[in-house]
Amino acid sequence: MPTQTSLVFAVNGERFELFKVDPSTTLLEFLRSQTTFKSVKLGCGEGGCGACVVLISKYDPILDRIEDFTASSCLTLLCSIHGCSITTSEGIGNSKDGLHPIHKRVAGFHASQCGFCTPGMCVSLFGTLVNAEKTNRLDTPPGFSKVTVTEAEKAIAGNLCRCTGYRPIADACKSFAGDVDMEDLGFNSFWRKGENKDLKLSRLPQYEQNHKNVIFPMFLKEIKPDVLFLASDKRSWHSPSSIMELQRLFESNQVNGNRIKLIVSNTAMGYYKDNYDYDRYIDLRGVPELSKIRKDQTGIEIGAAMTISKAIEVLKEEISGEFLSDFVRILVKIADHMEKVASSFIRNTASIGGNLVIAQKNNFPSDIATIFLAVDSMVQIMSGTKLEWIALEEFLERPPLSLESVLLSIKIPSLGLNKNNSSDQKSKFLFETYRASPRPLGNALPYLNAAFLVKVSQCKDSGGTMIDSCRLSFGAYGTKHAIREKNVEQLLEGKLLSFSILHDAVNLLIATIVPESGTTKAGYRSSLAAGFLFKFFNPMIDSPAKITNGYGYTNPNQAHHDEIPTLLSSGNQVLEAGNEYHPVGEPIMKSGATLQASGEAVFTDDIPSPNNCLYGAYIYSAKPLARVRSIELRPDLLLDGVRGVISSKDIPIGGENIGSKTIFGIEPLFAEEIARCVGDRLAFVIADTQKLADVAANSAVVDYDTEDLDQPILSVEDAVEKSSFFEVPPFLYPKHVGDLSKGMAEADHKIISKEMKLGSQYYFYMETQTALAVPDEDNCIIIYSSSQCPEYSHATIARCLGIPENNIRMITRRVGGGFGGKAIKSIPVAASCALAAHKLRRPVRMYLNRKADMIIAGGRHPMKITYSVGFRNDGKITALELQILVNAGIYVDISAIMPHNIVGAIKKYDWGALSFDIKVCRTNHPSRSAMRGPGEVQGSYIAEAIIENVAAMLSLDVDSVRSINLHTHESLKLFHEYCFGEPHEYTLPSIWSKIAAPANYDQRTKMVKEFNKINTWRKRGISRVPVVFQLSLRPTPGKVSIFSDGSVVAEVGGIEIGQGLWTKVKQMTAFALSAIQCDGTEGLVDKVRVVQSDTVSMVQGGFTAGSTTSESSCEAVRLCCNILVERLKPLKERLQKEMGSIKWETLILQAYMQAVNLSASTLYVPGMDSMMYLNYGAAVSEVEIDLLTGETRFLQTDIIYDCGQSLNPAVDLGQIEGAFVQGLGFFMLEEYETNADGLVLADGTWNYKIPTIDTIPKQFNVQILNSGHHQKRVLSSKASGEPPLLLAASVHCATRAAIKEARKQVLSWSNFVGPDSTFDLEVPATMPVVKEHIGLDIVQRYLKWKVGNK
Ligand SMILES: Cc1cc2nc3c(=O)[nH]c(=O)nc-3n(C[C@H](O)[C@H](O)[C@H](O)COP(=O)(O)OP(=O)(O)OC[C@H]3O[C@@H](n4cnc5c(N)ncnc54)[C@H](O)[C@@H]3O)c2cc1C
Ligand code: FES
Ligand code: FES
Repeated sequence: MPTQTSLVFAVNGERFELFKVDPSTTLLEFLRSQTTFKSVKLGCGEGGCGACVVLISKYDPILDRIEDFTASSCLTLLCSIHGCSITTSEGIGNSKDGLHPIHKRVAGFHASQCGFCTPGMCVSLFGTLVNAEKTNRLDTPPGFSKVTVTEAEKAIAGNLCRCTGYRPIADACKSFAGDVDMEDLGFNSFWRKGENKDLKLSRLPQYEQNHKNVIFPMFLKEIKPDVLFLASDKRSWHSPSSIMELQRLFESNQVNGNRIKLIVSNTAMGYYKDNYDYDRYIDLRGVPELSKIRKDQTGIEIGAAMTISKAIEVLKEEISGEFLSDFVRILVKIADHMEKVASSFIRNTASIGGNLVIAQKNNFPSDIATIFLAVDSMVQIMSGTKLEWIALEEFLERPPLSLESVLLSIKIPSLGLNKNNSSDQKSKFLFETYRASPRPLGNALPYLNAAFLVKVSQCKDSGGTMIDSCRLSFGAYGTKHAIREKNVEQLLEGKLLSFSILHDAVNLLIATIVPESGTTKAGYRSSLAAGFLFKFFNPMIDSPAKITNGYGYTNPNQAHHDEIPTLLSSGNQVLEAGNEYHPVGEPIMKSGATLQASGEAVFTDDIPSPNNCLYGAYIYSAKPLARVRSIELRPDLLLDGVRGVISSKDIPIGGENIGSKTIFGIEPLFAEEIARCVGDRLAFVIADTQKLADVAANSAVVDYDTEDLDQPILSVEDAVEKSSFFEVPPFLYPKHVGDLSKGMAEADHKIISKEMKLGSQYYFYMETQTALAVPDEDNCIIIYSSSQCPEYSHATIARCLGIPENNIRMITRRVGGGFGGKAIKSIPVAASCALAAHKLRRPVRMYLNRKADMIIAGGRHPMKITYSVGFRNDGKITALELQILVNAGIYVDISAIMPHNIVGAIKKYDWGALSFDIKVCRTNHPSRSAMRGPGEVQGSYIAEAIIENVAAMLSLDVDSVRSINLHTHESLKLFHEYCFGEPHEYTLPSIWSKIAAPANYDQRTKMVKEFNKINTWRKRGISRVPVVFQLSLRPTPGKVSIFSDGSVVAEVGGIEIGQGLWTKVKQMTAFALSAIQCDGTEGLVDKVRVVQSDTVSMVQGGFTAGSTTSESSCEAVRLCCNILVERLKPLKERLQKEMGSIKWETLILQAYMQAVNLSASTLYVPGMDSMMYLNYGAAVSEVEIDLLTGETRFLQTDIIYDCGQSLNPAVDLGQIEGAFVQGLGFFMLEEYETNADGLVLADGTWNYKIPTIDTIPKQFNVQILNSGHHQKRVLSSKASGEPPLLLAASVHCATRAAIKEARKQVLSWSNFVGPDSTFDLEVPATMPVVKEHIGLDIVQRYLKWKVGNK
């Protein structure tokens, strides 16, 4: 045994030395629980979100230089940072020692909303800047970094943000790039449009190259990073520094029978999550053989522990050589492909060997295995003392690598290509790699990948292309490992390439690339193989002359999936702000934005754990309807610090098993005898740490029994059969419009009983559900909760515990993303912690892991829609009848509002007559809750889908059908009888025509047609969509208090969930207090602080939902300020008379002395006539689809949105862009799939794909319309939180238009004339869905047609 050493490292310059460490501890766990640096956030725990990114700096004693790289702290094991310096966002800069320009620019570009993703974004960018400054690129002008625009955008390609829509974050990043055109940077608080470049630059928070870059503490240089042996009570960590040491460790392990884990960077834990049960961890990074690089004539050998980033660097190094030999070109292609593996903060630590080992042992869908296989790579294995070189192909086919076997290195052979072959005109080597994945860059596994290495020559006689030899490898499609398609290779070799040969090859390929049973999207994956093969060979048939560069080709008319994906081009933001109510209406920076960027902003889980704190995790049902006989925990964990379980049996006498309540009903906190849906809370495990609680809950064994129970209701059809419905209060059920039979009678055409279905969507707030409950004296309890409705939690917990409401205090400062998911769904989380704390008399907290959160959440309401519609020849609709079955899940939650919301949104068009029957079905699924635009998103989409089908039936341009069915003010009155407003307030007609101009709609429509005519494998579509959104205000309390120094505190019922509520409230407080008209009130906004919501201070806080809480909170503080101004006025007038003028501070001091009451509170209750209103907007989106992969690129979106007189246009802009991108996720990307029992299968970042920076509109233009005075609105403002989400339907409709063009073309290959446009495009229209509509077999069809034509 080696002598025990200590673990030494630094965090933000502070030295840490640990003598005992559990080797399974991650860096994130350590930082969050043992240090004050809470800027590293836990968003997923699987490497998929970037919220936890840190910069690691490591001294290389041989090169005497420091390496800096970003890494995910949730996967990095603490023991692996021995000798390293860690920098978090607080370490880059902070409010005490000075913020970094990154923080300031992020804030100034309005790039932080809830702020939960922001520190991770800042560190990702920081890492890129630090490394750019180290390059020997030419110096850039002062103020800029050496980073390029592309690098700056890519810096955050793996970081998720659910709030902003990325555009402003990208702008903040690009503002550092030396090659940026300042004109391309979007709206910000530094400069105004039209100012010159120098002025703009001078206004930006100054950045100096090497600006306070990483400070590497000198003491770390003395630490030998590779020598480490650490042990906790049960587990040990070893860092062997030679092969011999490693072998000795294996030998001693055989004697002791320990469970060992070989570790390089532990990133595979993000996928396999098996990090807990090992006795020995062996870190391979110190073994020199695993880190070497050897290059010679025979090829390149890469040590298995080399990181992917380093390997990319090494492979690209060769490009600077004198000749670009075919081999070098291949290496560069391999490197290019590897840049699409994971994200930079994963690639920076993830090893090549680790990737190949999980591909070999665990069937991981690796990219690296596929591309290395195509180039005939070899691997060196050590088993015991035996060393052997084998082909990668053989390695992959062998039984899983044993625990004592080590992959030492990988060799890419030069295949004799390292000579410059360009002079050899006889034969060429062509190499290409492919991957089709939901995101081009940002962290997504491929549906299938492929790599082809082919030797071709020109046939002397025909001039055609001869295939001399080829290696075709495919992987990740639901196969055990990457494979070579040898049958296809044989078929092609020695042949003169022709459509007929390619047709045979494709047919053979399709027959063999068959995913294993159980693989999702199997047909799609096979079709990709055909698509890639075709993409590679087809240009050679068409124009062999183009094969000149020796390794690839370009053909502008061909789809080329793997060209470098362009990210964003400049967007245009037009903000029509008013200054009538200064500072209301000013686009001021979001309150607390710099604190969010530096990570100092405190979220619920950042509150330090009180002494004695315990942690909870849910055991939830895996069955939709079952009796729970027993729950057993793993006995060894009980000894280890698991304290037991809390369940319905622990509800105190006088209390109630209640988990949440709304006006429609209650939901139990824990299932009693019977679990009623998958995800139903059965019990709450309590342990000493969150990790232990999670492990215990995860490994609990639940004994179910379904005897004598009915079959669960798992579909809306089942619910109808069993009449299982929730009641909708009559006052909430919407009204029919007009006479349906008359409308139908007026129709020239009808579509009868057409069905469509809509699925769910998960909130994906970056901060999962969390709460902390602390017992207090006299049976009282304080609960900190991340909640959109603390008042409801407060009342629920009182009932649950059987104590008066005045024993409870709920505190919510900020919420790391809500989107409706932190409303009702947050209540049981707070109640569970409260119940456990109440029972155990100890503080109890919980931070739900992402998987549990996703399984329990419920999300958006799925529904089935059946409609009949009547319409005239010109597209004018005369009648619409709908039956809608809403799947509400097991408890009512807020589902009774769904009919109202759905119909409210459907009424965006004038349907002539509208009639409906909407049932809210009770099923054995987790209860669905409000999600941003609940019901409205679906209603609006249903309307668009109907319009699309009417247009298709009539073969009319869908845009003209939309236009003809838009409301007049007269029809608006009929459809929205309580909120139609004045004629001048109906701004949609003008928005509708106005948007055509900036979007250049007519011309672009023509260009799209032109594009589609000349492009075979890509098609475009463009679509314009309107929104009419019904909003209503709710009573909201407010309180404003002035302190003796003139500073002000405002409290409101509304919660800051990232939507900028605090900022607007601050502005309103300053505006309303300035009515006192004394000196110094113009700067009052800086004296106002909005503070956390406290249910004891602010009763009747209500819900933060429905987009209107900001304006109602503003109105509440305005009323408070009016009271204060009235109280201060007499004193002010008296003092003014005496002194001539009076300063704000003097007035307040005098008011204190004269006992004027300087705290006022009120409950704002909107009047019946002003409670509801309509809001309007429109969007034009253009997309491009790739016919071979189904990939959709969002080329451009233009939005015009009516904000009345915006309270803060910068905040509203953020809401519009963020909502649109969230909608884009719903319509195009996010599949919230479940199995037949309702168990969520999309349970993490691996399989639930929200948009990333590479999947948003490339050009994103937003105009906020100032529609002037609206008497009944709060200072004429209108809401922006939800309606723009509905506009993302424009992307879906544009995709449908593009598919329509593709189908037309495909039909023409079958010699069938006439468009086929009557199809329904599912939501979300993911790549597989798009491809299925185009035709999985289009390659075969095309080739057959070509062969036939010849
Ligand atoms: C978010 C995310 C996204 C990803 N996306 C992709 C992707 O798009 N495409 C893709 O191909 N990959 C992807 N990966 C996989 C990634 O490449 C691997 O996780 C990584 O390369 C593993 O390297 P590591 O050093 O972290 O290995 P570790 O996690 O340390 O080890 C992985 C496994 O291999 C064993 N092991 C490691 N090295 C050796 C060795 N030399 N000899 C014997 N056993 C060894 C370990 O015991 C362990 O079982 C992704 C990973 C993450 C976390
Ligand atoms: S928490 Fe580490 S990447 Fe998501
Ligand atoms: S600001 Fe990015 S997740 Fe909220």
